[in-house]
This record gives sequence, structure tokens and C-alpha cells, in this order.
Amino acid sequence: MVDVIEKKRNGGVLSKEEITFFVNGYTNETIPDYQASAFLMAIYFKGMTAEEQGHLTMAMVESGDQIDLSAIEGIKVDKHSTGGVGDTTTLILVPLVAACGVPVAKMSGRGLGHTGGTLDKLEAIDGFHIELTEGQFVKQVNDLKLAVIGQSGNLTPADKKLYSLRDVTATVDSIPLIASSIMSKKIAAGANAIVLDVKTGEGAFMKTEADAKALAESMVAIGKQVGRQTMAVLSDMSQPLGYAIGNSLEVIEAIETLKGNGPEDLTELCLVLGSKMIVAGGKADSVDEARDMLKAVIADGSALELFGKLIAAQGGDASIIHDTSSLPTAKYQIEVPALESGYVTKVEADDIGIAAMLLGAGRATKEDEIDLAVGIVLRKKIGDAVQKGEPLAIIHANTENVERSASLIQQHMVIGQQVVESPRLIGAMITG
Ligand code: URA
Ligand code: CA
Repeated sequence: MVDVIEKKRNGGVLSKEEITFFVNGYTNETIPDYQASAFLMAIYFKGMTAEEQGHLTMAMVESGDQIDLSAIEGIKVDKHSTGGVGDTTTLILVPLVAACGVPVAKMSGRGLGHTGGTLDKLEAIDGFHIELTEGQFVKQVNDLKLAVIGQSGNLTPADKKLYSLRDVTATVDSIPLIASSIMSKKIAAGANAIVLDVKTGEGAFMKTEADAKALAESMVAIGKQVGRQTMAVLSDMSQPLGYAIGNSLEVIEAIETLKGNGPEDLTELCLVLGSKMIVAGGKADSVDEARDMLKAVIADGSALELFGKLIAAQGGDASIIHDTSSLPTAKYQIEVPALESGYVTKVEADDIGIAAMLLGAGRATKEDEIDLAVGIVLRKKIGDAVQKGEPLAIIHANTENVERSASLIQQHMVIGQQVVESPRLIGAMITG
């Protein structure tokens, strides 16, 4: 291991054998934390070639179970978002893309941060369960074209161990390490093709467009190297996506979007990502054709109906697609007034996310319980005019004491005197 560390420290390019030796040794605890830490720091400073990243990814994939989706007919397409605030896209995309005939076998996670993950959001629906056996999962996707389950089995244990170590050794924000970490989980989950939504801006992991692009390019290069068709879209996360931030509130927003009444930005991002997924799934020849298909399944109600079938198949109350009143509802709805008149120039996503977390919408630690009912519904986004006293947002809370969240919202929904344009939602597309 000393030789491998030294080689990377000196800027050398590691072989597949050297990388696999490290990943296996660290996973089975024959390589200690101090050597792994030094090695990660060497990668942090010297980087990795696309080939090295491919080897690292596959070594992590092979450290645990891999899901075999071959019993599902068709090209299986997965989507991954690098995470943001109020990102409801998965809930919408799964039925939307499946309604166009692409099988979506989705394995999702719980959230750690501002709001819950897709699984938490789905559990806001009474009765919905995310535990299916592999056999039930495959059968449901063959029958209905869609299923959403929690991570089962022992997927990428090497990544779990390395991620914990990176967290305490200041080596999280290394692009080769992030790219291989994300791609290892997607590849182990078994899809043939992967569409990545790489967020950029204040509410994202990557704060600048240049970093987001570099991360996207790394992940696309890894996909190419290991034989999974991969493409990436850069999207804005300087302000939250849509208006709703919170679990139950985002389910309602997803249903509205599937009905064609969703927020413009959220709808557009779903159309962009969804068209890529449909082309990757071989159901359309061009993104324009795919976009028309998506609009058609929104307009004729079939995407919404399929969402209802997904809910029913997994034990949930499907009546919510027509009447959301049985979803958890917060006791209080409290307006957050603007302190001056002008134009909204910023809606700083990370701080708005913290305001939602303080209400109980997210977890600070893995053990925290989420309050599925609470959250924030924005009334204004960047570029909107606002009058003093008019609500900037509505807080949905189970306590009347929402001072801290309200003041965070007032502080971070910045009002100026000059009108500003809303940020560009979709950035570069990277297809390799
Ligand atoms: N998300 C991941 O899954 N891995 C990283 O390294 C960073 C973010
Ligand atoms: Ca939202």
C-alpha cells in the first residue's frame, strides 16, 4: 500500500490491479484507515485519469451485490440527481417516462439534509411501502413498467466505508472521488442507461458551473468506459426547484405537475430529463419526438393514472391522485411577509432548505425523524415583483413558533430595487 500511495502522491497513473488492491484491502480491513486517508488525500491533490476512475468505480461495484435486472424486458433507464432543495423530479419522472413505455426500476434513498429523499416523500402516502423482494420488484416492472424500492442488499459497501472516511478527512469534494462514488451506486443498481441531473448553484453540491461540468464529464466518461450509456444535464439550483419544499407538499406538487399544472421550472426539467430517458430507452429517435410523447401522456392523464397504479401496487392510497386531502397536513399555515417592496433577486436554496429542516422536514442525522406534513411553499421566485407585507412564502408547521425559519426566509429571499432575470434553468448537456 505504501508504494501505491507514493505512486499517486508523485502524480503517477495507477493500474487496475493497484486500484482493486486498495478497494478490496480497505473493504476487508487489511488496509488501515491511516493509509486509506493518505491515499485519498493523494487523489484529492493529484486527481485520476478517466481510466483510473473507471477502475475505481468497478472495484467499488464489485465490492458488494449487483442487482440483476435482465428479467425485465426492454432497456432499463435510471436517473440520478446530485441533490438539491425541493427537487421533486423523481416522483414525476418515474410515472411520466414509464407511461411512454420505458421500464423504470427505481431504487431510491432516504434524504439526509433539507428534506427527505424520494422514499420519505412516497411514505407520506398512507400505506405505501418500499420493501419488495427482488422477484416482486421485477414482476411489478414487467407488469406496470414501474416500481420504486429502497436500497436492498449489500450494495457498494466499499463506497459506504470510503465515504465515511472522506467525510472526516476533508476529501469529500474531489471530483474523481465523487464521480466514482455516484456511478458505482448507479451501476450496481443494474440499469443499462443512466441520465444524470447535475445541479449547480448555492443549493447544490457543486457551487460553480465549471465544477458541475467537470463532475458531469467525469461521470459520463466513467459510464462510457464501463459500457453503460450515460449522459448528463446541468441544471440550476441557485433557487429551489418548483415552489414546494417538504415531503407531503412535494407529493402534491408532483401530482399537480403530472396533471399539467406544475411550476414552469419543475415541468421543464422533467421534460428535458424525461426526453433523454426515452431516447436512451429506445422509445423515440429524437428528444423532440420524446418531448411530444411526454406532453401527450400528461395531457391525456395516463401518466397520472400510472402514478396511481404504482401507489396501489405498493399498498398505498391511490385516491390521492384525485384528492390530496388524505396526505399529512400541518396544523398551522403561517405567512412570511416581505419586509420591503421591490423585486426578488435571490432565493438562496441552501438557506431556504435549512429553514425547512428546522421545521422538521429533513434530517440532520440519520436517526432523526421526519415530519412529513411540514415545509415551505414559496410564493415568489427570482425576478418576481413583491410589495411590502405580501407573503414571500407560506410556512406549514406543527408549531406556532416558527421565528427562526421565518427570519431565515426573509433574510435569504433577497429583495432589490432592480428587476433581475430568473436564472437559466438548463445548462450544458454532456453526452460524451
Ligand atoms: N454523493 C455521493 O453519492 N457520493 C459522493 O462522493 C458525493 C455525493
Ligand atoms: Ca419543489
